[in-house]
Amino acid sequence: MFNKRIKIKELLQQEPAAQQVTVMGWVRTFRNNQFIALNDGSTNTNLQVVATLGMFEESLLKRITTSASLKITGTVVPSVGKGQKLEVKAETIEILGDSDAEAYPLQPKKHSLEFLREKAHLRFRTNTFGSVFRVRHALAFAVHKFFNEKGFVYLHTPIITASDAEGAGEMFRVTTLPFEDTPRNDDGSINFKEDFFGKSTNLTVSGQLEGELGATAFGEIYTFGPTFRAENSNTARHLAEFWMIEPEMAFYDLEDNANLAEAFIKYIIRYVLENNREDLDFLAQRLADEEKQLPQDKRSEMGLIEKLEFVLNNDFQRLSYTEAIDILRESNYNKKKKFQYPVTGWGMDLQSEHERYLVEKHFKKPVILMNYPASIKAFYMRINEDGKTVAAMDILAPGIGEIVGGSQREERLDVLLEKMEKMGIPEEELWWYLDTRRFGTVPHAGFGLGFERMIQFVTGMSNIRDVIAFPRTPKSAEF
Ligand code: 4AD
Ligand code: MG
Repeated sequence: MFNKRIKIKELLQQEPAAQQVTVMGWVRTFRNNQFIALNDGSTNTNLQVVATLGMFEESLLKRITTSASLKITGTVVPSVGKGQKLEVKAETIEILGDSDAEAYPLQPKKHSLEFLREKAHLRFRTNTFGSVFRVRHALAFAVHKFFNEKGFVYLHTPIITASDAEGAGEMFRVTTLPFEDTPRNDDGSINFKEDFFGKSTNLTVSGQLEGELGATAFGEIYTFGPTFRAENSNTARHLAEFWMIEPEMAFYDLEDNANLAEAFIKYIIRYVLENNREDLDFLAQRLADEEKQLPQDKRSEMGLIEKLEFVLNNDFQRLSYTEAIDILRESNYNKKKKFQYPVTGWGMDLQSEHERYLVEKHFKKPVILMNYPASIKAFYMRINEDGKTVAAMDILAPGIGEIVGGSQREERLDVLLEKMEKMGIPEEELWWYLDTRRFGTVPHAGFGLGFERMIQFVTGMSNIRDVIAFPRTPKSAEF
């Protein structure tokens, strides 16, 4: 059998003193022709392997270079050196794959995140990305655990759709039509009847509409999949391809929805605090080091762990859009014209600088903003008694801004139809969606959590490109 290895994380936990073990991994460093720091991705802590002087051929030792892959069998012994409790005294060393140290792009030193983005195929082999992606995995696992424990059904909604759930027109088209001699109708428009699906299709911006179909049968469902937006925003919080978690629940109103979202966010944070402490401690230190470069007023008031614990131990601040506008308008920030977009008044859409002001300067904790003007939100949100606001909720997080968007849905067929007509959404295209309102309609609600923004919040990584393996952004789809 080839793979009878022990992972380094297990070895360091179990401390199998005096036993013979086999480990495999990649060389981080090789010192004094004797000490190999081996990493296998299970933890940032390298295993020290000792190649006793004189025991191995010089020709073999020459091949132990940074990022070469090795299979080592040896005995676990207490370490005499500082920095580790135990080490492995090698008996056999097999080179699985050589690595030309001159050509290998990563040196055993600190590289900038920007540089590593260009080497995204190798950046998993650094401590920072090792930690980020183990935490990402744990958060994904915790998402499923949370909903499974609550009896939600995981629904896989389609990636190719013919509808624009958000109505924002930020879709990537999916087509097999040729670019030359494209089939056209008499009026010159493209004839999508000739296209693969016989209609115009795109990559989904959200699984919500299909999620609602599931919720009105199973009661509670969630989706967790990739979503796509052709927004031309080159910011540290936007991706063209990102992952979203979208629970949808029958028999929920806006308050139930907000309660679930808050409990959900706290649950997944608690899960990583309990299960990924080593990686979070590493990321907290990384963030603290990075912030030392910043001017005092730009630094966070809390360390990463302290921030996560604070979120767990405090209620999110809930307030209405209307109250938020009043706070923003009366703020010194606004009066001193520090906002790039001045707060003009009720009805305006909030910019991320406004959201961050509320969260970071005013309340200093996560905020759930509710009941926005109908005119700035999607067609499916439920109209409130006042006739001008909808039962929407956005959750805003310190350092990030919006991480969740959700709402109670309009379950009244006549009200929904009227709204769609006003907003120019063709009824024929959404006949299947409208059927849920025709056959046993129920009050229901749901939300979408941007997974990468959540990971940013938990890991303290300031650029969203550093929390997804291979980021898709305007003019960039390498790897
Ligand atoms: O607020 P959004 O657009 O809401 C929806 O799509 C609803 N259909 C969700 C629902 O009610 N089921 O997006 C939800 C979240 C945002 O709050 C944000 O965290 C994230 O998705 N998001 C993005 N993340 C990265 N890059 C982008 N371009 C994003 N756009 C939205
Ligand atoms: Mg939104």
